[in-house]
Amino acid sequence: MSEEMIQKIQRLKKEHDAVILAHNYQIGEVQDIADFTGDSLGLSIQASKTTAKVIIFCGVYFMAETAKIICPDKKVLIPDENAGCPMANMITIRQLRELKKRYPDAKVVCYVNSTAEIKAESDICCTSANAIKVVNSIPENEQIIFVPDQSLGDYVAKQTGREMILWQGYCPTHHRILAQDIKSMRKKHPSAKVIVHPECTSDVIELADVALSTSGMLKFAKESDAKEFIVGTEIGLLHSLKKENPDKVFYPVSKLADCPNMKLNTLEKILWSLEDMVYEVFVPEEIRVKAWNTIDKMLKLS
Ligand code: 13P
Ligand code: SF4
Repeated sequence: MSEEMIQKIQRLKKEHDAVILAHNYQIGEVQDIADFTGDSLGLSIQASKTTAKVIIFCGVYFMAETAKIICPDKKVLIPDENAGCPMANMITIRQLRELKKRYPDAKVVCYVNSTAEIKAESDICCTSANAIKVVNSIPENEQIIFVPDQSLGDYVAKQTGREMILWQGYCPTHHRILAQDIKSMRKKHPSAKVIVHPECTSDVIELADVALSTSGMLKFAKESDAKEFIVGTEIGLLHSLKKENPDKVFYPVSKLADCPNMKLNTLEKILWSLEDMVYEVFVPEEIRVKAWNTIDKMLKLS
């Protein structure tokens, strides 16, 4: 059944001149059928480069929206329109405007996990792969507001030595990974390297060997001489880690780190998406142009 479905997807992809982009947290079979898998930055770059007419974006809504902001002339479809990111919805445009009024001279750095409206109201965007570079690009005498992720913001503040005004949003999935879990995993697997995502809480990051974006973790695991890894991020990443490194062993820190939104896209929904050309992502042009500016400044730095 699955083989038949894969063939149908491949045929419709050709008919519609479509490309499938999938985030590193998608379920294994979705990652396997994708033309490109990657982290938020990598997928934004792929979206900017593709010559296909249709982008099927298998990730959460802000990612598909980012692709639409970058490629307004392409049809961008998300197989399940309910695949939202709770962190992206933790700051409203009204709250950001109030914050900007309190700090009128501050530059606003928004994490890509944010709505198009928030991006449009910010000065520059960042992802977990380039947040340090983005913050370092802002002159030292400028104040910085960082939204919406307090954990990534705190990590970047420590790495750059910059004081930042942090919005108190967070990723409910990464905050399920506890320092206690890392300590007990280290006891069980003393020669393993601990790799975590910077959306984790600061006490978790302090116990890790490295904090990296999802593609950063894939690269680290491939290049490292270590044979065992304790992985502190959403469990979907284990699929590519294992596939790309069959001779290495990966232990998830916590099986509770399972993002339900990332798991909403399935092969069936990709097929329906191609059959019915749903669900199309739209961004009002006035917001899109401003949000594009914010993203473009980031892409120019990358
Ligand atoms: P990456 O950009 O590192 O892939 O992270 C995106 C994300 O949503 C992490 O929860
Ligand atoms: Fe959002 Fe966290 Fe899920 Fe990433 S893992 S999409 S930040 S809720």
